[in-house]
Amino acid sequence: MNKITLTINNKKLQATVEGAESLRSLLVRLGYISVRDSDDREGFAGSDTIIFSDKPVYANLMLALQADGATIRTVEGLGNSRKLSIVQQAMIDAGVVQSAYNAPAAALLLTWLLEKHKNPTRAQVAEVLSGIFIRDASYEHYYLAVELAKEMRDTGAYKTSISPTFREHLTYVGKPKSKVDGPQLVAGEKSFVEDRVLAGYKTMVVLRSPYAHAYIKSIDTKEALAMDGVVEIFTHKNSSQVTYMQAGQGNPEPSPHDRRLFNEKVRHVGDRVAAIVADTMEQAIAARDAIKVEYEVLKPVFTVEDAMAEGAPIVQNGVVEFKVGAPADLADYNKKADPRDGKVVYQFPLHGDIRRNVASAAHGHIGDVEKGFKEADAVVEQTYQTSQIQCTPLEPHLCFAKIDNGRLVVHASTQVPFHVRRIVAWVCEIPENKIHVIKEKVGGGYGSKQDILVEDLVGYATWITGQPIYYRNTREEEFVANSTRHPMRMTVKMGAKKDGTLTAVYMDVRANTGPYGNHCLTVPMNACSKTLPLLKCDNMKFDVITYYTNILPTGAYQGYGAPKGTYSLMVCMAELADKLGIDYYQMAMKNKVEPGYMLEILKGLGEGREGTVVPVGSCGLDEALVQGAKMIEWGKKVTSDDPDWKIGKGFAMIQQGSGLPGLDHSNAWAKLLTDGTFQIFSGGADLGTGLDTISVKMVSEAFCIPMDLVTVISGDTDSCTFDTGAYASSGTYFSGNASYYASEDLKKNLLTEAAKQMGEKAEDLICQAPGEVYSTKTKKTLSYAKLSHDALTGTGSGQVMGRASFTTNHSSIPYGAHFAQVAVNVRTGKIKVQKFYALQDAGTPINPELALTQIYGAALKSIGHTLYEDMIIDENGVCITANLTDYGVPMISEQPEDFKAVLIDIDDEVGPYGAKSISEIATNGAAPAIAIAIHDAVGIWMRSWPFSSEKILRELGKI
Ligand code: FES
Repeated sequence: MNKITLTINNKKLQATVEGAESLRSLLVRLGYISVRDSDDREGFAGSDTIIFSDKPVYANLMLALQADGATIRTVEGLGNSRKLSIVQQAMIDAGVVQSAYNAPAAALLLTWLLEKHKNPTRAQVAEVLSGIFIRDASYEHYYLAVELAKEMRDTGAYKTSISPTFREHLTYVGKPKSKVDGPQLVAGEKSFVEDRVLAGYKTMVVLRSPYAHAYIKSIDTKEALAMDGVVEIFTHKNSSQVTYMQAGQGNPEPSPHDRRLFNEKVRHVGDRVAAIVADTMEQAIAARDAIKVEYEVLKPVFTVEDAMAEGAPIVQNGVVEFKVGAPADLADYNKKADPRDGKVVYQFPLHGDIRRNVASAAHGHIGDVEKGFKEADAVVEQTYQTSQIQCTPLEPHLCFAKIDNGRLVVHASTQVPFHVRRIVAWVCEIPENKIHVIKEKVGGGYGSKQDILVEDLVGYATWITGQPIYYRNTREEEFVANSTRHPMRMTVKMGAKKDGTLTAVYMDVRANTGPYGNHCLTVPMNACSKTLPLLKCDNMKFDVITYYTNILPTGAYQGYGAPKGTYSLMVCMAELADKLGIDYYQMAMKNKVEPGYMLEILKGLGEGREGTVVPVGSCGLDEALVQGAKMIEWGKKVTSDDPDWKIGKGFAMIQQGSGLPGLDHSNAWAKLLTDGTFQIFSGGADLGTGLDTISVKMVSEAFCIPMDLVTVISGDTDSCTFDTGAYASSGTYFSGNASYYASEDLKKNLLTEAAKQMGEKAEDLICQAPGEVYSTKTKKTLSYAKLSHDALTGTGSGQVMGRASFTTNHSSIPYGAHFAQVAVNVRTGKIKVQKFYALQDAGTPINPELALTQIYGAALKSIGHTLYEDMIIDENGVCITANLTDYGVPMISEQPEDFKAVLIDIDDEVGPYGAKSISEIATNGAAPAIAIAIHDAVGIWMRSWPFSSEKILRELGKI
């Protein structure tokens, strides 16, 4: 032990430190919790940035001992959520404080920069943020935040426009109005699961499989169990035998239940073998190392081609059961099952055949594609391949659970609190009333937190041991034991007349679901259902087959199949235009759908059941294409002075959905408090995207009161009503609509109560600023505070409340077009994205500044997927890129030189105040737009994603 003296945020203090303790650990121990860690001391993400003796450093990479005599600044020195600094407020106003795991570090860096340089250049901003990884909002609006902070500092007001505004008759909706949870997030205050962990908690670590495919022949935990501090060790022998799945989807799920908490068979490198609960991390790791496991190693399969080969090893060879719709020959089918494989329970038939590694399949068509291909003047058929990629949320998957009042309380970083409750209840075999799930702030999800990847295990271990247990994935576990994007092989065949009119489109999608079938039907289906309805064509057909393999697990990822489908469909259309010798833009304009066009293809594209045919409703596709083509100067050739660099342009039409019509369900309720302020309880799960702000705006708009007088409670399964969760682009549309209708119901009830108290008719009353009921007939007013007080006296009629439930069969589809200009270096194969313009129709953007930053974030993420992100596994199934440095994610230097997000103004008839979804769709455009631009530049078609320099050079015939 050593004593050191240091100054933190102008406060001199002494601390006792151990020799190897990191400076971050010391700071957290001293209460500076804003200094977080995203990558286990890899030194990549920058969540642990502090100012040390006037220089930015990563606190994780320094020893606490090195701080002796040092002066340190952390974000806690800038302000707090009630009193933010100018920079912190500017970051919220610019819309960059979203999931915000790194927002405090960024606030500190920008503050330091503005102290050094009164008017920093763009290059200086980029330089200071070069060591910070931002996945949610991208980096573009950080430049805006600096501009805003400077203006506020110099003039006391903002001059630069933050975003366009929408719906001038409304006060809060369609206007940039500081995200409601921004202050606590940017101030680095307690927000996340890790901040809720109680002293005296037990640690959990997981023993993971070194093999891609093996049976556990024996497992000996005796010695480990006897070690110091070990509380319990769970294996397949002594834990829940319930067969379930981890995908957070509506019940009954369109994913097979094909796993237990621990399986006798391991199906990927990193699969769970045992979980150790101990007093300390060191003890848990020591016990993990003392467990003896004997494996019977099996041959693995990694690709779709391996999995479909005759005689291929079978990944899931258990007993098949069906909740409904079992085939007549099931008993015969099950004769070949190996009991060590457990079970595969289909909730309804998904046309799987697990003995041939088929997890699910779907087929559908309209018209007659064969006839359509015969009528075509040209036909193109090509195969496109996408790779396995990782969501990389800055906050890894983690969970803290405890027993309180005889119930299991789960603090979760989740997109689906109600699915967490249901699935944990299944695994623990206890009723849902025994479980309380609290969704904490989510430090990045992007789909991976739609799956119940850690809460099942932590919830179960806590319920059995009665101990408070904290578990957190390492960054490596994020790669090897988490959900990722399904690799897919898509063959697209397209035929068209000479003038470009499409005559037939066929998509053959072969998806690789890996060891378990999370989302195995719905992700590959989305490759078709979120792409084919972009095109007017009477003859369309699709076949979707998903295979089990032994790659790392897959699941939901923002875009959910649509990025891959869009890539293959749009590039194939560009290839066809090229073959026909016509302009791809003209071809897109000719074949794109328009309002009123009946989307017959949707009939075959339901989630395992028949879909609903609807006409195209509100649609900004045409405007996005026209405006985008103008911005990029489509048709105008750009050349470089350097002969090594060739320049080209491309674009893609994109669409998504707004939740799942006929499947999703949201609920909310709201109440008037005794002083005339309001609370709204939303079942929706804000992932940092601004859903809570939307709920607040719904109340503020209904009652003409400032947002500060409304508090939102969300994603808490005890106080909020059911919501299917934040996935499938449903947040604004479904959960936002529940909040809208709950506010309207509250308003109706409030006016009824006011009518009683005022002796007036409710139809003569309106709500008005600054928080009162006004009679248009008698001109009398009644403040909300007096109304509430009188309603709650001995003679009053009680609490004024409102509630709503929202479902719909209507599809509000967001549309858009993404344009790219790239430069290709024909000597090195390097690609530079010079321009990227993302034009999208989100209906009424309720939080326009956040809508813009979500477009930027999603587009940059997909540029990373397109160009370099890749989970590479070796011949044994070991991921060799299981850290952020090797995997490669876009940092500020990788941003397109000219990057613009544009909101196309379109009103929708069903969304709250006309809103549709915004961010998932923004992941769909980069791959096709860049591939088509590369072809325009150098004449090669990139049919395998990511477009590495090596692949470019190979296609160019240089290697
Ligand atoms: S070392 Fe910087 S975030 Fe982990």
